[in-house]
Amino acid sequence: MADGKKGVVQEIIDMGVKEMNAMAEVSDITGQFRNLLMEQMERVEKMEESAGKKKDFKSLPVITIGICPGDGIGPSISEQAVRVLESVLSEEIAAGKIRLKQIDGLTIERRLAEMKAVPDDVMEEIRECDVLLKGPTTTPKGGSLESANVALRRALDLYANVRPVSVPEEGIDWIFFRENTEGEYAVGSRGIEIPGKLSIDFKVITEPGTRRIAKAAYDYAVANGKTNIEVVTKANIMKKTDGNFSRICHEVASEYPGLVLEDWYIDIMTAKLLDKTRRSDFQVFVLPNLYGDIITDEAAEIQGGVGTAGSANIGDQYAMFEAIHGSAVRMIEDGRGAYANPASLIKAAAMMLNHIGFPEKAKAIENALDICVEKEKAVVITGHEDGATGAEFTDYLLSKLG
Ligand code: IPM
Ligand code: MG
Repeated sequence: MADGKKGVVQEIIDMGVKEMNAMAEVSDITGQFRNLLMEQMERVEKMEESAGKKKDFKSLPVITIGICPGDGIGPSISEQAVRVLESVLSEEIAAGKIRLKQIDGLTIERRLAEMKAVPDDVMEEIRECDVLLKGPTTTPKGGSLESANVALRRALDLYANVRPVSVPEEGIDWIFFRENTEGEYAVGSRGIEIPGKLSIDFKVITEPGTRRIAKAAYDYAVANGKTNIEVVTKANIMKKTDGNFSRICHEVASEYPGLVLEDWYIDIMTAKLLDKTRRSDFQVFVLPNLYGDIITDEAAEIQGGVGTAGSANIGDQYAMFEAIHGSAVRMIEDGRGAYANPASLIKAAAMMLNHIGFPEKAKAIENALDICVEKEKAVVITGHEDGATGAEFTDYLLSKLG
């Protein structure tokens, strides 16, 4: 009897202790959440203050292009992209108007050793440039080391991820405006976890963050004679975040009469990209970060593979251009680094030239790529020894540049 009573008391004490522990865990997390919220509010304020202030490349006496080769096949394809840049910019480089600055140290080895997405000295060097051409960097799965891409996009406020995809013979000429600094990526690796119980990541959509990506898409559409904008969300489920993203796109649309906005959900749009009777109608897409990440890989695959696509990360003060594929470490392990396809990074270099005020040079590279990859195909890269090396492909491309 006495034992039984003791048991009940003990049980009550245990329950109380359990509840107190749970409350302590939760209150700790509430504090973390509060800090994240404050941080995001600060970001909103900064965006509001800087809205519309853009760097004018024409007024710069010298434009500095940073080159970060990256990991895996990065150094191999980066070397080829630099050859193309040195060729088309030879006069400007000789005249001191353009400077190419090699930046070492953005490697997985250093990033792991320092447990920093971008080591401080590397970030400083990057900031000293006006734009950056970046090879792929390795992102470890799990762990707490954040992706260098994501960290750079956030640190340099590169809010528009612009990814063009074209398949001329099918009438496909798409351009994706993927929001690049917020959504599921805003808080990065700092989600919340109660080990063994639950985990929460965050998705953040802000008013000024959405407004500026929507404006970028609309400005592009107007400047390039496009008429249709596809706004892609999952606003039926993510009612707050995606709901607001869609609403703000509609508000921006009202400033651009004559253009057609169509609302889509990401699941059906993913399907429609495969619908040959419909897909050539699409022109400009605007979408939150993670959907943009996923669907641009699908779109690149339709174009001929992720190795064929370039990607621009554009902010008002800075811009970074890269391939959309990863570092393909396996190719290096297999000794096939020299056979990696540099086309995506060369395409990214062309996008960069367009951005810094050399649209004719950009066009020349794109035309040469078109001749080499689509039309003549005299030197073909397979990624293996039976194909050409990246250097041989680039020789061929340079010969077409004249
Ligand atoms: C991309 C990549 C990155 C992303 C990775 C490498 C972090 O997939 O640029 O699309 O998720 O944005
Ligand atoms: Mg991706």
